[in-house]
Amino acid sequence: MSAALLEFTDVVRHFADPSMMPGRRRVARALDGVGLRIAPGESVGLVGESGCGKSTLARLALLLDAPTSGRIAFAGRDVGGFDAAARAEFRRRVQAVFQDPTSSLSPRMRLQEIIAEPLRAQGVRAAARLDAAVAEALTAVGLATDMARRYPHELSGGQRQRVAIARAIVARPDLVILDEPISSLDVSVRAQILNLLAELKAARGTAYLFIAHDLLAVASLADRIAVMYLGRIVEEGDAQAVSAAPLHPYTRLLFASAAMEDGAAASEGEPPSAYAPPSGCRFHPRCPLAQARCANEVPLLREVGGRRVACHFVPAGHGL
Ligand SMILES: Nc1ncnc2c1ncn2[C@@H]1O[C@H](COP(=O)(O)OP(=O)(O)OP(=O)(O)O)[C@@H](O)[C@H]1O
Ligand SMILES: [Mg+2]
Repeated sequence: MSAALLEFTDVVRHFADPSMMPGRRRVARALDGVGLRIAPGESVGLVGESGCGKSTLARLALLLDAPTSGRIAFAGRDVGGFDAAARAEFRRRVQAVFQDPTSSLSPRMRLQEIIAEPLRAQGVRAAARLDAAVAEALTAVGLATDMARRYPHELSGGQRQRVAIARAIVARPDLVILDEPISSLDVSVRAQILNLLAELKAARGTAYLFIAHDLLAVASLADRIAVMYLGRIVEEGDAQAVSAAPLHPYTRLLFASAAMEDGAAASEGEPPSAYAPPSGCRFHPRCPLAQARCANEVPLLREVGGRRVACHFVPAGHGL
């Protein structure tokens, strides 16, 4: 196995409920023992319902937040021990694209300055070099180089997200973390942005952590898929294999609802809460296969036919 670019080992992130009085202990178990590794050049898709912990994981992976416990390593080094120089190096090698390009792009900066920002942060000052890099990044995301003089408000939503992607790739990072990069876009623009991400990945070998509600989009872009349910990964494996034959009952529910126009099936059963996760298997109150054991015993992620599944009732070899 090649060295991981990014590796989460038993990562926990709990949040105190901000609406509670101090001293009243109620915590959101946003992440509850997550293991995940991304190899260099690999594209990992992270899926799961709203509130299952995807953005929490992304923020930890970007060093915007720190875990309650567990270990996060980048290129083999524990990020908890990073000094200022290691953080600066990390900021160059890992970039982010968020859901809403309007709020993630400064309205008072021209695209030139916005896109050049990661290079400036590395100390690149030569105007000719910055101009050339910005022009190259604009071209790479399918925008005309003369757009560099424009401001974000002069662009469409899809163009703004292209600018956010240009900024993310301009310093040639090893990993781009994309938290719902297509969710705020018109349906007609989503496929274009997905194609662009696929092209950039193929051309540059950049690794992605790609978070999206659109399961089919994730399946098309990712090499591997990790499925989260209430702070835990319940299934993880090759994207083609998982989408062709999901094993965990929750993954099946997700794919079944994605196949329906409006995604209605995913809203079946009680909405899950990170404040009061069910005992045993957290999915058991909504699971068609649930039995008594599921309420008592936490299913561990086990190797099943080349992927990992956390379900008492998916035996080795099942469905493969
Ligand atoms: N700063 C915070 N303070 C308190 N609770 C938080 C905080 N951030 C996240 N949470 C809680 O942690 C859980 C996971 O939230 P998170 O934003 O990671 O979910 P998500 O999977 O990204 O959801 P969505 O699909 O809606 O973006 C939720 O219950 C949320 O309320
Ligand atoms: Mg989120």
